[in-house]
Amino acid sequence: MVNQNEVITNEGGSVHTGVQEGESFIEIKNLAKTYKRDEVETVAIEDFSLDIKKGELISVVGPSGCGKTTILRMIAGLLEPTAGTITIAGRPCKEPGPDRGMVFQDFALLPWRSVIKNVELGLEIAGVPKEERRERAEKYLEIVGLEKFKDSRINELSGGMKQRVGIARALVNKPDVILMDEPFGALDAQTRNIMQAGLVKILDKTDQTIVFITHSVDEAVFLSDRIVILTKRPASIREIIEIPWPRPRDRASPEFTALRKRILEELERENVLE
Ligand SMILES: Nc1ncnc2c1ncn2[C@@H]1O[C@H](COP(=O)(O)OP(=O)(O)O)[C@@H](O)[C@H]1O
Ligand SMILES: [Mg+2]
Repeated sequence: MVNQNEVITNEGGSVHTGVQEGESFIEIKNLAKTYKRDEVETVAIEDFSLDIKKGELISVVGPSGCGKTTILRMIAGLLEPTAGTITIAGRPCKEPGPDRGMVFQDFALLPWRSVIKNVELGLEIAGVPKEERRERAEKYLEIVGLEKFKDSRINELSGGMKQRVGIARALVNKPDVILMDEPFGALDAQTRNIMQAGLVKILDKTDQTIVFITHSVDEAVFLSDRIVILTKRPASIREIIEIPWPRPRDRASPEFTALRKRILEELERENVLE
């Protein structure tokens, strides 16, 4: 995946905002969410505040069911907060928009459409002319190494390939932010490592901002500029860890192992293992 680095470099830079790399980009203030179903109230998020910089990959780790997906869906504009605000480049994100691309664990592809038609979907909805959207979709399929499979049906693909379609589908719209919810969680360990290495190449070559939810501490340490460790539900921030090391990172290095161990211990204190 991702050997066309030049192509990606040319695609770098926000098309939706004037915010520069390293500047404050997504501002989440005093976010809270309580679900109400019948008479039952579930407090999922309580007073969550976070400032995400342009070009940053921020991972969110935390116990299962603590509210990670809830946070991501609110950033996506798919779910209304009970309290608090989220802005991207100063704009409130109250509804989904082309500035945010989503990648889901279960791929969420349309099985009756071909690979390339799945990648083109957002452009089609945005009214991009047929020829242009085909050309852009082909370029991103090349970036994720799937150009030979553009006319395949989704059910002919492996899990890793499906997720690469999901990533191409998010990238093709040139979003300011990609929101990824355990994107590699359904993949086998080897495919997962390949996907992570591919993501590192995208990070190297663009100022793409990514919010990445994972239950794998190893993955978070491998990828992130910062890791947000959540408490158990209702989720608030337990700790934020900054990782200044360049990528790609060596999983076998003592500092990598030590940091992974430390975060796992933090999570254990929240009563949950990786
Ligand atoms: N639509 C919903 N209605 C009611 N409760 C929900 C809904 N979605 C999630 N929850 C509850 O909110 C909590 C957080 O869920 P979620 O954000 O999916 O956690 P995570 O992604 O960290 O596993 C859980 O207790 C879950 O059962
Ligand atoms: Mg979840």
